[in-house]
Amino acid sequence: MGLLGSSVSLLGVLLAVLGYLVWTGADLGPLNPLAQVVKPYLERFSTEEPPERLFTPQQLSKYTAKSGSPELYLAIMGKVFDVTKGERVYGLNGGYSFFVGRDGTRAFVTGEFTEAGLIDTVDGLGWRDLLGIEEWVQRYEKDYTYVGKLIGRYYDEEGNPTKELLDVDEKMKTAHSEKNAVEEHKRNFPPCDSMYTEEDGPKFVCTKESGGIERDWVGVPRKLYTEAGSDKYRCICVKNTGPPAGDPGAAQHSDRGDLDNPLVNLQEFDGCASDASACKP
Ligand code: HEM
Repeated sequence: MGLLGSSVSLLGVLLAVLGYLVWTGADLGPLNPLAQVVKPYLERFSTEEPPERLFTPQQLSKYTAKSGSPELYLAIMGKVFDVTKGERVYGLNGGYSFFVGRDGTRAFVTGEFTEAGLIDTVDGLGWRDLLGIEEWVQRYEKDYTYVGKLIGRYYDEEGNPTKELLDVDEKMKTAHSEKNAVEEHKRNFPPCDSMYTEEDGPKFVCTKESGGIERDWVGVPRKLYTEAGSDKYRCICVKNTGPPAGDPGAAQHSDRGDLDNPLVNLQEFDGCASDASACKP
């Protein structure tokens, strides 16, 4: 190896050692100014996440265009996101500037964009709204940069989840179960399609795709009364042969599908054959 080659290798070794020392944060004495120059370059190649920041509501409130901040931050469920790239929407004249500088979780599903509505509690919201909030959080995680946590309702001063957050997490799990149950119910009892023809007038029809639910059975239209004491009903298609829709492998069944399901209050349409796939309302 020539003189040039060995000097290059020596320089390489020196740089590697210097890089390592800078990286570990060692005190390099007179070389400290050099470390300050090198560090940002090293950080650029780092795969480590930047440290998470903790905000008090007061600190978060400064990250608005109104306060003259170039960086715009908002919080949802106590998670703080940098939404600066959405300046058009969240900046001074943006239509959603009220979300910035605070945690307005509740308003993401209530649409109440007032001081009273822009609050962080989800208390008393139904499962659909809770899932709506979860979707918004996922959307911010996907579209914007997460910067840290807001100290308050959902995170304590060490950044640990509060009891309230853990309770909401539990309610989210229940919300998912409710959604699954509703979807399963809709698969087993799909809505009828409404049709209108010149000769027959309006009709409720069951097909293998009615209600947008694809299945391998047609079913028969039945009235489903959902409100006690009311004559309002929805038309649903009920499986009328073979095992129940929700239990296709049932060894023992009456070959009447879900017609005898005791949990669903069903009624036939007047003047319509029990096994007809279309009935007049
Ligand atoms: C509960 C009601 C609503 C909430 C919580 C809500 C919330 C939001 C939020 C947070 C954004 C910004 C998303 C981002 O960062 O990219 C947004 C954007 C937008 N929203 Fe809404 N919104 C609601 C209802 C509506 C309605 C009813 C309309 C239309 C009639 C609408 C039209 C828009 C449009 C056009 C944008 C894009 C803005 C732009 O790019 O300039 N929103 N919405």
